[in-house]
Amino acid sequence: MRGNAQMLRRIKQLIFNKETKRMEVIKTQDELFTIPPMAHEPGSIGYMEKILIAQLIVMSRPKVLIETGTFKGQTAKFVSQFLTRNRYDGKLYAFDLPQMIEGALKREPFFSTAANVQFIKGSLPGTLLDHVGGNGLTVDFAIIDSEHTYKQVTAELETLHPFLRPGAYVFCHDYRETDPEYAGVVKGIDEFTAKMGYDKLPIWGADVWGAAVLRKPPLK
Ligand SMILES: C[S@@+](CC[C@H](N)C(=O)[O-])C[C@H]1O[C@@H](n2cnc3c(N)ncnc32)[C@H](O)[C@@H]1O
Repeated sequence: MRGNAQMLRRIKQLIFNKETKRMEVIKTQDELFTIPPMAHEPGSIGYMEKILIAQLIVMSRPKVLIETGTFKGQTAKFVSQFLTRNRYDGKLYAFDLPQMIEGALKREPFFSTAANVQFIKGSLPGTLLDHVGGNGLTVDFAIIDSEHTYKQVTAELETLHPFLRPGAYVFCHDYRETDPEYAGVVKGIDEFTAKMGYDKLPIWGADVWGAAVLRKPPLK
């Protein structure tokens, strides 16, 4: 109930001022949330899409987040810093092959002190099932971005589905409707969403590589 009341205040753009001890109108966006500086590596999710991920996190306040395919860790770092900076207590589980994770940890000293990121080494989707299923986790937000094939995208979405909270958002990178190179990703996402009744919003435009935001059907 307390959480709902807090949410309602924020929707009405009101915040409690500890000094005046009164509810006051939020006057600037940065009183609500701020976005950390971003860095980019070719192969990583782009700036506009990272901002979209940040907005989905603000809206859904996930406690358990996953990223399939973490590469050099740029998106993992962004998500970790975003959670910390805005005092959200979520934790990101980032999955990739052992050599990729070892490389990211060597390259990026940030991760040695980032308590809200845990890397899971091994081959997807097996690691997803072992870690999420094995630890009884319910996933509140997911980023799907490993191998860009029909088989892999379908296997990851199907593995994730039973562990995903109803109403949870899934950000699928590389949903590029007109690009033959990514036809497998598009087909996999289209088939899965149609079969399982997920909402799907393709994201495409200036300075955007291409993604789709999915939503698992909420409980009625
Ligand atoms: C496009 S990159 C991910 C980019 C990352 N999400 C970012 O924004 O920086 C894809 C990653 O998926 C990983 N990958 C591909 N197939 C995989 C598999 N079967 N199991 C685990 N990781 C895999 C690759 O090693 C690679 O690092």
